This record gives sequence, C-alpha cells and structure tokens, in this order.
Amino acid sequence: MNYFITGATGFVGSWVAQELARKGEQVTCLVRKTSNLKWLKGLPAAYHYGSLLEPETLKEGIRNADYVLHIAGVTKALSLKEFYSGNVEATRNILEVVKAENPGIKKFVHISSQAAAGPSAGKLPKDETAPANPLTDYGRSKLQSEETARQYMEFFPLTILRPPTVYGPRDTDVFEVFKNVRMGVNLKVGSNDPVVSIIHAFDLARGIMVAAEHPKSSGETFFISNEEPCAWSEVIDILQKLMHKKVLTIPIPYPLAYSAGAAMELAARLSGKPTILNRQKIREVRAGYWVASSRKIKEYLGFTPRLSLQQGLKETLEWYQEHKWL
Ligand SMILES: NC(=O)c1ccc[n+]([C@@H]2O[C@H](COP(=O)([O-])OP(=O)(O)OC[C@H]3O[C@@H](n4cnc5c(N)ncnc54)[C@H](OP(=O)(O)O)[C@@H]3O)[C@@H](O)[C@H]2O)c1
Repeated sequence: MNYFITGATGFVGSWVAQELARKGEQVTCLVRKTSNLKWLKGLPAAYHYGSLLEPETLKEGIRNADYVLHIAGVTKALSLKEFYSGNVEATRNILEVVKAENPGIKKFVHISSQAAAGPSAGKLPKDETAPANPLTDYGRSKLQSEETARQYMEFFPLTILRPPTVYGPRDTDVFEVFKNVRMGVNLKVGSNDPVVSIIHAFDLARGIMVAAEHPKSSGETFFISNEEPCAWSEVIDILQKLMHKKVLTIPIPYPLAYSAGAAMELAARLSGKPTILNRQKIREVRAGYWVASSRKIKEYLGFTPRLSLQQGLKETLEWYQEHKWL
C-alpha cells in the first residue's frame, strides 16, 4: 500500500514514516524545497516535492496514494494568520485535491490536537462528545481544521485524531523539561500541579497506522493518548531519578509568567522565530487539567499504547544523550 504522508520531515511525521517503512509499506513523503530531510535519512521512502499551500503541486502524489496521512501543521507561529494558513488553508487544499484526484482513497487521516478540544473540566477525562473550547490561536486553528475535514467525510473515508502532548526522540518541546532537570531546576508556573494526557511518538505513530487501516475509524474523531494521565510532577520525578538529579523547584507566579510570555513574544517578533513560550501557552498551563479520554479509540479500534511513561521517558533520555542533545 502507498502511504502519502504530509509533515514527514517533522517530529511526529518522521516517526510515522519510520514505522510504516519498518512494516514494509510504501511511503511517499511530501517535502518542500526548504525542508530539512535529516529525520528521513536512510528510510526507504520516496519524496514528493510540493507545498500544501500550492495545491497543484500535490496532485500526482495524491493520485498514487492508497492512504493520505495529513500530519503537517503549524504548531508555533508569529500571527493568527500563519496558524490559519498552515492548519486550515493547508488542510482544505489537500482535501480538495483528494476529492478531485483520488476520492476512491482508502482513508484520509487528519492529525488535529487536544488543543482543539481545550482543557478538561477537572480531573475527569474529556471525551469526544464534549464541546470544544480551545484556549489559543493554535487550538482554534486546529479546531477549524477539524471542521474543514468533517465537510469531506461524505466524499471519502476520513478520520480525525487528537493527540495530546507528544514526547520522544527528536522532540524539541518537552525536551526543554529534560534540559531543566539536567540543570537541576524545575520552573513551576502558578501553584497548580497540571494533570495532562501524554503519548510517546512511537505509540502515536502506531495509533495513526491503526486509524488508517481500521474500517471502524471512518467518519470518527478520536483522542489518542496514554490510558493514564499524569501529573506534571510525576514527569519531573521520573526524570530526576533517571538522571540522578535533585531539582530545585522555582515557583513563578502567574503575573510574572505572563510578563515572561510577553517578553518572549516580543523577542520572537524581533528575531522572526516563533517560540513555544508565550502568553497563550501560560493560559494553557493555568487551565491545569488537560485530560483526554482514551476510551473511544480503545473500544472502536482496539488501540492501546505500549510504552509506559517510565519506559518512554527512559528511552527518550537515552536518545538525547546518544545524540549529544543532553
Ligand atoms: N508535537 C506535539 O506535541 C503535537 C501534539 C498534538 C498535535 N500535534 C500535531 O501533529 C502534527 C505534527 O506536529 P509536529 O510536532 O511533528 O510538528 P513539526 O515537527 O513542526 O513538523 C511540522 C511538519 O509540517 C510540515 N509543513 C508545515 N507547513 C507545510 C506546508 N505548507 N507544506 C508542506 N509541509 C508543511 C513541515 O515541513 P517542513 O519540514 O518543510 O517545515 C514539517 O514536516 C501537527 O499537525 C500538530 O498540530 C503535535
């Protein structure tokens, strides 16, 4: 089977390309002339040069696909416009090309985000029927990308997945926490101990493959995460033990965190490089509970992650150390 993957040069997409190739599937990766291909090196994968913002360039790759895994997205941006173009317009473009060129496709899997659904009300997991209340421009753009994708469910089999925080080798975001622990500090924003759903990129890649192949996934939206949420302090504890470090927890009151977020935004604007830390991110942290139910994906598709948090963090740490990131 031929899998056409968008976002394969990124963190999540490269895991999916790798796991599909390991299974012996035919993999075609959408890449841009500017893409860095380092995470695809050595993989038996074909490259299709094009951009989601230039739909003409997608046609040939889409025509030859049995499955389309639309993983590409913009997770950091300097403006609302960039989020909407990278997440909504890009999604609409590829869906239009599939509709016109290959509506007989076996499945289109659209990768959304827990950010589209917003936080949970307390520790109770949020399920797929709960109303969405995204807190950030990123979340709102991902929600609109979902709404766009749903409009195409009548034309071909389509599934939407909402991963939570994803960690694992090659990730540069949760990596910041690893770096802090290694330096012996834990920056704790506000007084909450956030409780979050989380998943390792290996398990997410497996889940994306299951969602592509499973007939019961069509027309459905699923959260995809570890079965057990974790308190952020648990992640810190595990990392402390793995690194034989004792961290000093530095509490940062919200007003100070917002000011730091504003300063980071200014720095990002001046340098032209968006960062993960900004005022909207602080608002997400402040929400405290980001717990998604993994019941539906287990019931419908029989999917459960394989890596425990402990195992996943250990393997990730080893990778960072081997690759001299830490
Ligand atoms: N990482 C997480 O914790 C997380 C959590 C929930 C959901 N997600 C979702 O998972 C997906 C992947 O996230 P990630 O962390 O892997 O992001 P990433 O590492 O930043 O990768 C983004 C990918 O999208 C591609 N892309 C962006 N705009 C494109 C365009 N116009 N045309 C073609 N390709 C384009 C990038 O290509 P280039 O290499 O050319 O830039 C890159 O391959 C996103 O949809 C994100 O919303 C991620």
